[in-house]
Amino acid sequence: MKDSKAYYDHLANSYQSESNSRKKYLTAIDDYIVKSVNGDVIYNYLDIGAGDGRRSLKIAQNIAVKKEVFLIDNSSKMLENVSSLEGVRVFNESIFDFNSTTKFNLITCLWNVIGHFETKEARIELFKKVSLLLEPGGVFIFDVNNRYNISHYGYNNVEQNIKNDNLNIKDAGWYTLGEQPNQTKVYIHSPFDIYDYIKETDLILEENKYIDYSTGETKSTFFEGQLVYKIRKPL
Ligand SMILES: C[S@@+](CC[C@H](N)C(=O)[O-])C[C@H]1O[C@@H](n2cnc3c(N)ncnc32)[C@H](O)[C@@H]1O
Repeated sequence: MKDSKAYYDHLANSYQSESNSRKKYLTAIDDYIVKSVNGDVIYNYLDIGAGDGRRSLKIAQNIAVKKEVFLIDNSSKMLENVSSLEGVRVFNESIFDFNSTTKFNLITCLWNVIGHFETKEARIELFKKVSLLLEPGGVFIFDVNNRYNISHYGYNNVEQNIKNDNLNIKDAGWYTLGEQPNQTKVYIHSPFDIYDYIKETDLILEENKYIDYSTGETKSTFFEGQLVYKIRKPL
């Protein structure tokens, strides 16, 4: 089993077709971000786990970032696909090693990047780091896959996931991603995990939505979609 960096280094060449296969979902999330920061002035924007940067750069263009866009990813091969543009700074390192005196009005972390962090402590550390990196009043938007999403994973799997969670089965929420020989382990969230991270910080949950993984439509329950959250640092 590879770590996330080796997994994405291997996947980088075919990443674009992988992301095109989820285009409706990913576009719905991108549109949500642009719409929901409409009215906020964004001087600096940071995308954590930016991959090939296609989504970050499209979002940055649509929200008219006034100063700089920072893209971070620990896979050098993924970052080789980023188009170099004025005002865009690229950092090939793990978010956990990233230090910055620049503060951000908007931070994103898109398409289950958080599922690649190996422990709950690391995920909490991410939220603490985001709080340090946000300007007061700044926004953090992220999406994660949802192990209670019946529409995508099916009723039987979700029923088993709910049982595993309630029986405190070791490694509940951990799955294998990819095909042999390129595989990594990934954490698929439950809709309740996120509160454990937020409550360790000063961040405030402003909105969450459930987005259908095939169509990108907004759904009414967490049994029908993946999870997107908008979080704000208080003024
Ligand atoms: C599913 S891809 C998503 C890429 C991009 N956000 C998108 O939506 O197309 C997950 C990305 O997270 C990156 N990643 C995983 N762990 C990371 C870490 N600790 N620091 C920075 N990037 C990380 C991977 O290298 C990979 O590019």
